Amino acid sequence: MTMIAMFPTTIGEFDLKVDNNKILDKLKKIKYKDTYVNNKEASALISDEYNVLKYFPSLKKQILKKVYEYSNEHKYMNEKYKIQCSWSTKTKPKAFSQFHSHSHSFFSGVYYPVAKRGFNISFQKPYDDTVFWDKYVQSHNYFNCSQFTLPVRDNLLLIFHSYLKHRIESNEAFEDRYSIAFNITPKGLIGYDDKLINIS
Ligand SMILES: [Fe+2]
Repeated sequence: MTMIAMFPTTIGEFDLKVDNNKILDKLKKIKYKDTYVNNKEASALISDEYNVLKYFPSLKKQILKKVYEYSNEHKYMNEKYKIQCSWSTKTKPKAFSQFHSHSHSFFSGVYYPVAKRGFNISFQKPYDDTVFWDKYVQSHNYFNCSQFTLPVRDNLLLIFHSYLKHRIESNEAFEDRYSIAFNITPKGLIGYDDKLINIS
């Protein structure tokens, strides 16, 4: 039998070549603010500023290059992309984030300069097919899972469509977990006829 994965959810995975320790040093010096709603200890912290990639020109260049690679795999016709914002996240041991997606964005991504065992990110299936029949399975695979957890590694870059819900899993390491997240928008002329828009 051949299984046809008809509308797969994609995540681009890239190993970058940048000075990750230098990036981590800088991330440790950036100012962070709380994102908590009712549990301060368990919440990830986010940088005060939304253009942290300005500190890392080489990283920024590599990210944009990989965005084009990821887009090309989907055969999209967008010719240009821009990084509309970037921020860093600091997650203390045992802290985590809630599932969320990034609004007003086409692609999103996250870069990990230095990873430890216990740094994980999870992605949620984009639709809920358990409303009527919940499916009990012998073991999980790509076809039946509703959530997918990826361990992260040094210099790892992940790029995905911004609608995809994700969360920082509980930091099970003894050290703070740092990452840089970003949103990507196409720019220039997009579409045609009555669907044509021009994003500067
Ligand atoms: Fe996010």
